[in-house]
Amino acid sequence: MKFFIDTANLAQIKEANELGILDGVTTNPSLMAKEGIKGRDNILKHYVDICKIVKGDVSAEVISTDFEGIIREGEELASLHENIVVKVPMIKDGIKAISFFKSEGIRTNCTLVFSPGQAILAAKAGATYISPFIGRLDDIAFNGLELIAQITGIFAVQGYETQVLAASIRNPIHIVKCAEIGAHVITSPLEPILALLNHPLTDSGLQKFLADHKKANG
Ligand code: E4P
Repeated sequence: MKFFIDTANLAQIKEANELGILDGVTTNPSLMAKEGIKGRDNILKHYVDICKIVKGDVSAEVISTDFEGIIREGEELASLHENIVVKVPMIKDGIKAISFFKSEGIRTNCTLVFSPGQAILAAKAGATYISPFIGRLDDIAFNGLELIAQITGIFAVQGYETQVLAASIRNPIHIVKCAEIGAHVITSPLEPILALLNHPLTDSGLQKFLADHKKANG
């Protein structure tokens, strides 16, 4: 399972990358706004800055919702760097655009996926990744992990090449469960990734090892 970080914060991207476990980055317009990145030129430069840090796919999202606009934006984003994956919303023109990008050899991430039917359509259109949102489903009392399991099951049966990129991760259990279910990729904020490090028995065990070494060696 690949690990992507879900942020536009360069310091956090560097921190995750230095762990040696990072396979890519996802961003969205809300995450870019959170970092204060505004204006087309600054936004495009920020994507290039991210690509310079990480050797892996970087999802850059279009803000157009009509076919021509999505194509124009997507082609511009894809031309920035070979690792850019164009993130396209799960709407009718988005699906049309994903088919078009596929024919042009431009890789895509279909975002805002909340049902198996949407996932099937995006896979048929030739999306490289589809992003089902776990946390936002959990928030409205639907089981986000069940959706991931259903989609990975369908893709395996159908032999779709599209990768299931589990998004809207809120805690380390989401990550562990995605690994168990067979998600191809998770994208998570830094905190749940770092939380995977923690276990109280690791901390107490290490303290004991160090104390015993000190006792024996002075
Ligand atoms: C997916 O790529 C989105 O950027 C993201 O995972 C959404 O997460 P949120 O529901 O925590 O905003």
